[in-house]
Amino acid sequence: MGRVTVLMGSPRPNGNTAKLVEAFVGGLGPQHSVEVVNVAKLGIQPCRGCNFCFKNSEHRCSQHDDMEQVYALLSKTDVLVVATPVYFYSISAQLKALVDRLHNPLRDSFPIFKMALLAVGAATLPNLFDSILCQYHLCLEFFHLDDCGTVLVRGVKEAGDIEGNLALVEAKNLASKI
Ligand SMILES: Cc1cc2nc3c(=O)[nH]c(=O)nc-3n(C[C@H](O)[C@H](O)[C@H](O)COP(=O)(O)O)c2cc1C
Repeated sequence: MGRVTVLMGSPRPNGNTAKLVEAFVGGLGPQHSVEVVNVAKLGIQPCRGCNFCFKNSEHRCSQHDDMEQVYALLSKTDVLVVATPVYFYSISAQLKALVDRLHNPLRDSFPIFKMALLAVGAATLPNLFDSILCQYHLCLEFFHLDDCGTVLVRGVKEAGDIEGNLALVEAKNLASKI
């Protein structure tokens, strides 16, 4: 039994990332509960680097926005799934703003012990995901998390290009093993 949270980082609600997430969620066993966060729909400001959260005992952030609901959700999450389109060889800005706001000691109280990565991009370059994978592996190592695996989809540009792609089966299979 695990509480799974998927951070869906594309602003296109019916885009390729969303379809990949849908396939992933469809593969999760009934023992899991799942919450998909449509990150682009939330109002999350970038981190200001003020370190206010390190200086108050409740680790409150100086900014009061939708990140408060993300902190609450992550405090009840066992498995974190990060899903993103490739934007200039990195994750989307919407997702990056959220991730940076996890530079808060609150994160040490989150029960998260496993992470997975789903990513899509238009190019077919072999090294398209290198920078995202590098960040992913550094985070796994730093936070001592288990790796559930990755599904990386090249060559999908327009919303819907992922239809019929074997990656959807891969995402479903990955989820079924969690
Ligand atoms: C701002 C922006 C930057 C992008 N940068 C890249 C890139 O560096 N490499 C790439 O292969 N595709 C890039 N793309 C294409 C998207 O990754 C691709 O269209 C993807 O399928 C979008 O996923 P979505 O449908 O979930 O939004 C970019 C798209 C946008 C809007």
